[in-house]
Amino acid sequence: MNRRAPLFVGNWKMNKNASQTRSFIEAFLPLAEKISARVDIAIAPPFTALAAAAAALAASSRVALAAQTMSEYGEGAYTGEIAASMLAEFQVSYVILGHSERRLYQHESDLAIGAKVRAALAAGMKPILAVGESLAVREEGNAVAHVLAQLEGALGELSDDRAAQVVIAYEPIWAIGTGKNCDRDQAQEIAHAIRGSRGAFAEIPILYGGSMKPENASAYLQMPDIDGGLVGGASLDPASFAALITGAVAA
Ligand code: PGA
Repeated sequence: MNRRAPLFVGNWKMNKNASQTRSFIEAFLPLAEKISARVDIAIAPPFTALAAAAAALAASSRVALAAQTMSEYGEGAYTGEIAASMLAEFQVSYVILGHSERRLYQHESDLAIGAKVRAALAAGMKPILAVGESLAVREEGNAVAHVLAQLEGALGELSDDRAAQVVIAYEPIWAIGTGKNCDRDQAQEIAHAIRGSRGAFAEIPILYGGSMKPENASAYLQMPDIDGGLVGGASLDPASFAALITGAVAA
């Protein structure tokens, strides 16, 4: 296993209301308590379930809370948006930024994502910056260049001290929710390129995401630059998410 502490984040996307979130946590916490304390675990429910999740998780420090996005602005006339300080009120430790679904449907640019990263860090949260290429870009042989350009676009202005506090999730778009997980050597190639692109990334957690399942998670974790997973579908069921993590770190 890698030297760096593994991190697994359940990205629930637009799934689970507050009561479903409470049920998940009730079932998941006892399973999570059995997982090595070396492993960091977080769940990212929708905004409307964060209060319920914070209350249900309060009794234990085993599982951290993450948000799925946030505004780059501190407050003001941004209808529908949520600020970092609002998330901090619910003990949110991580925030996923720049997920490909937000880049696609909400037209988030690298520039805006970079501003969100800085706002999250300023509020004391760890940004999980998601990057990844489309199938067309991969087939053209430009996956590495594309991912490094996304990183430069979002983090180029960040100081090295700040950049060392970021989590990066490599999620090839063609592998998300499709069941077509990326070959682990391909994922490692990108993770290695990310790590080597900046001195500040030497010890940050780099996650893989895209159809990660209990059956394939350990293969990724055996790769030297992959430290965990950003897990969508397989994080919605408590037993499946716990089995994925347990299997991944046992190898
Ligand atoms: P998936 O989603 O595990 O369902 O492929 C991963 C993600 O989008 O973060």
